[in-house]
Amino acid sequence: MTAIAVDKLTKRYGTHLAIHDVSFTVPRGSITGFLGPNGAGKTTTLRILAGSLGKTSGTVTVAGFDVETSSLEARARIGYLPEQAPLYPEMRVVEYLTFRAELKGVARRDRRAWVDEAMEKAVVGGVRDAMIGKLSKGYRQRVGLADALVARPEIVLLDEPTAGLDPNQIHEVRALLRGLGGAHTVLLSTHVLSEVEASCDRVVVLARGELVAEGSLEVLHAAAGSFVVVLRGEPEAARTVASAVADVTRVEASSVDEGTTRLVVHLAASASIDPVVAALVSAGMGVREVSPVRTSLEEAFRALTLTDKGDETGASS
Ligand SMILES: Nc1ncnc2c1ncn2[C@@H]1O[C@H](COP(=O)(O)OP(=O)(O)OP(=O)(O)O)[C@@H](O)[C@H]1O
Ligand SMILES: [Mg+2]
Repeated sequence: MTAIAVDKLTKRYGTHLAIHDVSFTVPRGSITGFLGPNGAGKTTTLRILAGSLGKTSGTVTVAGFDVETSSLEARARIGYLPEQAPLYPEMRVVEYLTFRAELKGVARRDRRAWVDEAMEKAVVGGVRDAMIGKLSKGYRQRVGLADALVARPEIVLLDEPTAGLDPNQIHEVRALLRGLGGAHTVLLSTHVLSEVEASCDRVVVLARGELVAEGSLEVLHAAAGSFVVVLRGEPEAARTVASAVADVTRVEASSVDEGTTRLVVHLAASASIDPVVAALVSAGMGVREVSPVRTSLEEAFRALTLTDKGDETGASS
């Protein structure tokens, strides 16, 4: 079952192309990490999903409803924590959440229970009577989270929910996220890769407004691929053959024992190891074993999102 389907989404701000032909899906009940360098287009995409920003072209459906043609039905199923949560500084936490629940159409008889539940999940019960304007940044962020949850949405969109939180609060938000998985579908934009390792079962990666990877964390690790290849043959000869294959960026060769060589083959992002194996086999080297090397998520992220020119910003051009 698909909770979110984005198909050929394009968004221009004036002449600036912020999102270009992006397609991905988010399965129901998953916690999906939404990654990409600054300016990649994450916030833009989340705003379009939440119905707070119009798209230029493409289709976006949430819980089966088109966010444009069935916008009320789609919005009713979404809880959204924006990058800058618009809170009312002069309201008390519990008043604010009750007001938000009312705005979101939560029935009067359910309001108190649902507000209490959201406050419990976001761990803001301790500041329920505090003025929002007097809360620390971390607590304000958590009030935003409670707001996203208050109407018991099927789908939760979170734009950097742990930005500005201290390590203890990050830990609590992680526990909260784990508690949401299954019953809710979560799409979570973050720059904290350890958070993705800890909380997410899938990832969608954007860079410069385009999709560069989508799938399980394993897919991401493999997308920035390095492989160990064990073969019958001499190290230097094997290295020469492997290095000559397109998309191979680096090869390390070592001798395992008489006549057996172990290669570590590094590939360009998203390239396949198959042509390397084929080249070795046709050079008469029997390949015994091929296994992916698990790179760190950070290395995989860099390999996927940096351009050849070493541009780290992904900023607008
Ligand atoms: N309202 C706007 N008007 C014009 N350009 C915009 C607007 N909002 C975003 N952009 C541009 O669109 C691109 C994508 O921005 P977006 O905020 O979606 O990126 P992001 O992935 O959320 O980045 P970050 O990690 O810094 O939050 C950037 O080049 C940005 O400058
Ligand atoms: Mg953003």
